[in-house]
Amino acid sequence: MNIIESLKWRAAVRNFDSSKKVSTENVNALVEAGNLTATSMGLQPFKIIVLHNEEIQKELIPYSYNQKQVGEASHVLIFAIETNVNQQTIDNYLERHIEVRNVEASSLENYKNSMSNYLSMMDEETKKTWATKQAYIALGTVMTAAADLKIDSCAMEGFDPEKYQEMLGLKEENLLPVVVLPIGYRSEEEMMAGLPKVRKALENFVIEKN
Ligand SMILES: Cc1cc2nc3c(=O)[nH]c(=O)nc-3n(C[C@H](O)[C@H](O)[C@H](O)COP(=O)(O)O)c2cc1C
Repeated sequence: MNIIESLKWRAAVRNFDSSKKVSTENVNALVEAGNLTATSMGLQPFKIIVLHNEEIQKELIPYSYNQKQVGEASHVLIFAIETNVNQQTIDNYLERHIEVRNVEASSLENYKNSMSNYLSMMDEETKKTWATKQAYIALGTVMTAAADLKIDSCAMEGFDPEKYQEMLGLKEENLLPVVVLPIGYRSEEEMMAGLPKVRKALENFVIEKN
């Protein structure tokens, strides 16, 4: 299937068949797709937590506005921003850059300074917004990769980030969930629904300037 066909097939699935599980190979592919996402300055100020525990998933339902897809999905991918982005984040990135590309630290001095300047201009709230934007780019990439693999998903902002943080012990790791993505396979009932997509007509979506 081409990418447009896959994207037409994709839908926000609220009814998962909990007996069908996503293979480890496919979960790993989705995580890798998230890791390959472009981010501002390449800093990747977020992580993906892979939750695959029926008991905990069910416990999270009340903290997800009672949306049961969290409990019924095969896995729940939790996109969590780093709440302690600072000079160390830049230093870690540069260390990795030097290792992967085998370059001298001195060749990255200008890059280091511009990254430090950029971060130093942001207050904590701005940094949170910036990190959240990066996590959402990864969300889109992972959802598209999932559609390509015929894996269902449902992006969700309807949850209590602090409760998730508490239940998954994320605060200690300086992580704050911003969006979650239950993944799995749609139930028979959902397959039957097969409703057409509601989208703007393309002519009302695109503006051409020639
Ligand atoms: C960032 C984001 C957050 C969303 N949050 C929820 C949610 O909490 N619960 C839910 O059922 N659907 C949620 N959705 C799904 C949207 O309602 C759905 O994508 C939209 O209605 C378009 O339908 P489609 O994805 O089936 O084409 C969310 C989607 C996005 C992209």
